Amino acid sequence: MCIAVIGSGYVGLVTAAVFADIGCRVIGVDIDVERVAQLQRGESPIYEPGLDAVLQRHQSAKRLRFTTDTEEAVATCEMIFIAVGTPPALDGSTDLAQVQHAIATIARSAHGQKTIVMKSTVPVGTGSGVQEYLDANANPDATFTVLSNPEFLREGSALADARKPDRIVVGALSPYAAQPLVQLYHPFDAPIILMDVRSAEMVKYASNAFLAAKISFINTLADLCECAGADIRAVARGMGSDPRIGGAFLNAGIGYGGSCLPKDVESLYACAGELGCPTPLLEAIRQVNVQRVPHLLDRIADALHGLAGNTVAVLGMTFKPHTDDLRESRSIELCAHLTAAGVTVQAHDPLAVDAAQRLLPDVRFFADPLQAAMGADAVVVATEWPEYAQLDLTAVRQALRTPLLVDARNIFDPQQVQAAGLRYLGVGHSTAAPTAPDHVLPCEVPQPQVQ
Ligand SMILES: NC(=O)c1ccc[n+]([C@@H]2O[C@H](COP(=O)([O-])OP(=O)(O)OC[C@H]3O[C@@H](n4cnc5c(N)ncnc54)[C@H](O)[C@@H]3O)[C@@H](O)[C@H]2O)c1
Repeated sequence: MCIAVIGSGYVGLVTAAVFADIGCRVIGVDIDVERVAQLQRGESPIYEPGLDAVLQRHQSAKRLRFTTDTEEAVATCEMIFIAVGTPPALDGSTDLAQVQHAIATIARSAHGQKTIVMKSTVPVGTGSGVQEYLDANANPDATFTVLSNPEFLREGSALADARKPDRIVVGALSPYAAQPLVQLYHPFDAPIILMDVRSAEMVKYASNAFLAAKISFINTLADLCECAGADIRAVARGMGSDPRIGGAFLNAGIGYGGSCLPKDVESLYACAGELGCPTPLLEAIRQVNVQRVPHLLDRIADALHGLAGNTVAVLGMTFKPHTDDLRESRSIELCAHLTAAGVTVQAHDPLAVDAAQRLLPDVRFFADPLQAAMGADAVVVATEWPEYAQLDLTAVRQALRTPLLVDARNIFDPQQVQAAGLRYLGVGHSTAAPTAPDHVLPCEVPQPQVQ
């Protein structure tokens, strides 16, 4: 089986790698000439643990090659995966230009029977639109089956996720039409859930919106815990151990970011709007997330008696650890707000310094987190990279001008931070006295009736 994967980003590269793993011949395609040149040299243009070695191994074994020539890949392969980007448009809806470009090229260059598999996250109804377009515009000798196969991998563990998926969703016009993809996935030993194309498209949005809802929920409760004198970390443990709830995505912090959750919630919300379907829950999920960085800024401003003129060290630029992805990173947003408020920002990230520097030209980056903290009035841990949890807190205290540690991801034990001589500010738990009053029991306790 020969497979073309159009789009060689986080999803496309991992998809290409795992199909090469099971012995398929794979052609990875991208329109970015520099990216393809890099891949042909055996270098991964993105950081994803283990990916470099796997791509090199499959290229050496001639199971995998990369090209900018989409037409040749489409002509050669019977199954074509679309893994191009679907970024947000200005109004929050999905910009489908990359998908449209790829589909137009397929229409021009395909002959014979082709299976088109949509891995990109696309609004409900895109699959049927693609099928109609290809049926009407492609070469007369070409026929197409368009399938939906949303991707659920997580950056940072993408290869492991794609090799051992917890489920494979396949959307098709009929179970018969789904067969080529079902057979391809057979070696993965994962449950395959068959459904119609529109439902498969919706599953991806529903999953991401639900994860975003968990994060916005726990962040709302974190604010409440701060007022009520409760500890959100204990609350999350207590609720998360209920299997109906689950502990994942219940870490309070500065909100969700990355290339998927924000744009997928926005896109679903925009889609609901177009359909005239009210979705107040989606609106609340977005609003809570939008407020996270301003809320943290207010707390830092309170602690420092204002922002302007201070120096703040921000540790962690990526939207989460173990990735170099800065898309929709709350940390980048935090730094931009701090500099706009007249703060000198000194920053560190283990992986993404060059790309972060391009986004934040006014921020000074350091090779070491302690150097970034030198002379600062506060250090903010904005991404939960494991190395930050290992920092020598006494050395942090010595580096800082003002001893304030803002733990925006709740990775530290407040007692240890305070023992090192630092003032601690976490999310959803306070070392200060609660602002909420104790609930006073009624004064007159009813006496037991004596007969
Ligand atoms: N990144 C994730 O964690 C993740 C997870 C699940 C689903 N998704 C979805 O998968 C899709 C791809 O995401 P990504 O993060 O891999 O994007 P990405 O931006 O990393 O990669 C997209 C690639 O497609 C290339 N491209 C654009 N137009 C092209 C064309 N016409 N022909 C060939 N190549 C083209 C770009 O140059 C880029 O290299 C998106 O719809 C995204 O929502 C992403």
